Order: sequence, then structure tokens, then C-alpha cells
Amino acid sequence: MDRITRAYPDGLGYWSIVERSAPARFVGWVLLIPEDTHGPEVEIGWRLVRDAWGRGVASEAARSVVAHAFGTVGLESVVAGIAEGNAASRRVAQKLGMKREGNVDGYVRFRLTRDGVTDV
Ligand SMILES: CC(C)(COP(=O)(O)OP(=O)(O)OC[C@H]1O[C@@H](n2cnc3c(N)ncnc32)[C@H](O)[C@@H]1OP(=O)(O)O)[C@@H](O)C(=O)NCCC(=O)NCCS
Repeated sequence: MDRITRAYPDGLGYWSIVERSAPARFVGWVLLIPEDTHGPEVEIGWRLVRDAWGRGVASEAARSVVAHAFGTVGLESVVAGIAEGNAASRRVAQKLGMKREGNVDGYVRFRLTRDGVTDV
């Protein structure tokens, strides 16, 4: 909760995802925050409620936040730490154009640079 309620630098934070056909329905969030809350890298992440999985929602939401990160905030790159066994999340990262750069603390680290963005 502390991660959600704290103040972040301009342009960073958590975005709620709602169902387009039912805007009152919260289905998850995407984050863009300083890695481990203090940076200097900026981390992107995503999490959906269970019954929203498998419809491309995470990819669509993350793509919007990537556009914001590079276009509005002016970041040069974003990173993500994803558990090796989380194939769906690794696939979301891959579809965004993120490149695997190694393992950190048991997580696969992905990076997306401004010029590496692909259409999801
Ligand atoms: C990970 C998560 C956000 C994905 O959300 P989603 O909306 O279902 O993702 P999308 O539909 O945009 O994309 C998922 C992709 O992974 C693929 N996929 C799903 N399960 C898979 C599996 N077991 N193995 C391989 N690929 C898989 C899907 O086919 C899709 O790829 P495609 O578009 O090429 O077909 C969601 O499952 C979630 O919230 N999980 C729990 C929290 C979590 O793991 N968060 C991420 C922590 S790093």
C-alpha cells in the first residue's frame, strides 16, 4: 500500500485499468515508478484481476504507459523484473519490445529503450 499512496516524481505512479464497456469496473493496474521506489531506473509493471486475463488487456494498458513514459515523461528506458515462470508476463514484455538483459534477485530483467518500442 505504501507503494501506492506515496508521492512519485512528475509523470510517474499507478494507473487503474477499467473495462471499456463498463468503466466502473476496475480490472487492474499498470505502474511506472522508480525501481525499488528510489530509482534511478524506472520500472514498468502490470497486474490484473483474474477474470480479466487472456484478452490483451495488460498489453494494451502497458503500451499506453510506454507511450507516456517516452513521449510525455521523456524517459530513455524502462525496466521490468519478471519471474522466470511467469510466461504471460514475459510475453507482455516481449510484445512491448522489451529485451531480456539478465537476472536480478531471482527475476528476469527486461529493458525497453525509447528506440526499441514495437506495436503490440
Ligand atoms: C501477467 C498478466 C498481467 C497478463 O495479462 P493479460 O491481459 O492476460 O496479458 P495479454 O493478454 O496482454 O498478453 C498475454 C500474452 O501471454 C500469452 N500467454 C498467456 N499465458 C501463457 C503461458 N502460460 N505461456 C505462454 N504464453 C502465455 C498470451 O497468449 C498472450 O500472448 P499473445 O498475445 O501473443 O497471444 C496477468 O496474467 C496477471 O495480472 N497475472 C498476475 C500478476 C502478474 O503476474 N503480474 C506481473 C508480475 S511481473
